[in-house]
Amino acid sequence: MESKFFCYFVSMESDEKSFEISRLLRQWYEANKRELPWRQTRDPYRIWLSEVILQQTRIAQGLPYYNEFLRNFPDVGALAAADEGSVLRCWQGLGYYSRARNLHEAARSIVNDHGGVFPRRYEDILRLKGIGRYTAAAIASFAFDEARAVLDGNVYRVLARLYDIEANILESSSEKLFLALALETIDPRHAAVHNQAMMELGALCCTPSSPRCADCPIAAHCLALASGKVSERPVRISGLKRKTRRFHYLCLYDGQGIYLQQRQGKDIWRHLWEFPLIEDPASDWAALLASHPEIGRWTGQGARLMASRHCRHQLTHQTIEAGFYLVRTGTGAEKPSEGALHIAVDEMDNYPLPILVKRFKDQLDSLIS
Ligand code: ADE
Repeated sequence: MESKFFCYFVSMESDEKSFEISRLLRQWYEANKRELPWRQTRDPYRIWLSEVILQQTRIAQGLPYYNEFLRNFPDVGALAAADEGSVLRCWQGLGYYSRARNLHEAARSIVNDHGGVFPRRYEDILRLKGIGRYTAAAIASFAFDEARAVLDGNVYRVLARLYDIEANILESSSEKLFLALALETIDPRHAAVHNQAMMELGALCCTPSSPRCADCPIAAHCLALASGKVSERPVRISGLKRKTRRFHYLCLYDGQGIYLQQRQGKDIWRHLWEFPLIEDPASDWAALLASHPEIGRWTGQGARLMASRHCRHQLTHQTIEAGFYLVRTGTGAEKPSEGALHIAVDEMDNYPLPILVKRFKDQLDSLIS
């Protein structure tokens, strides 16, 4: 009798676990959410694309890319059938071009290995090229309502405050704890809306600075608020050291056009196009010339430096300090590399370019004339 009662009590507790936090969140979300195109679809392809773009940029900057990408590649079959250059061109300016290459490769695998049908289960989605735990969980929950923890920066912050977590979110060992907390909070009957609501709360209410705790639907449950630690959560202690690289781009103009070459190897911006490049710690043109005699062969006799521009470009793990040197080449100028293409300046728009090269290209017309 006693043990029967105990079993009943335990199972009642697990079956009827209160998902009060989830309920409050979802109610708040329905009243406050932003209308975004990827929230009006259950199409996993569209959701996947939006998540990959939003890993790169903010919503306002990402929206035109999302729309343009779908205009060019409306479904997974169209993306699979596209050539890599046109996919990279659609991605131009977003950065992290490996993400675009991975989208393309995964689309081909969906067509070749899954009969063109997007896999539905988290574990199968996770096997696609370039899809990590975050993206797989987002697709599985938003498109198919699978109860998976979707942990992005916003969700980490909400959870760290809600449960007043001291662990450093930048340490990989913290992920397990946050995954467990996220799963604990999800109502599995409403996984899609719950996960969107967590993200939206982080974006609109539980913001990094000046959070609007007075408007927060779950403030009564927030342990960091109760202990006066909201501004100290989440804990982020970074051990990251960025390296700095110096790129010198030679824009070799002969009165007709310039040279462009494609990046190869395992480095950043693989398969994108750029001017002939010398990577060297030299800080200016004179120092570069002194240490690279090959430049003299590429520029020829009587060459003239018409303009130079410098910029700094921040990537996640490295800083690129770039110099662009516009040189009017002289007689006997040699082709700078075997694979270099000689093209007119306005033909450059047909090639996917790193954004800093594109910005210099946009100034070229006025510099040349
Ligand atoms: N950031 C990442 N994913 C998002 C989503 N689905 N909606 C809004 N912002 C996001």
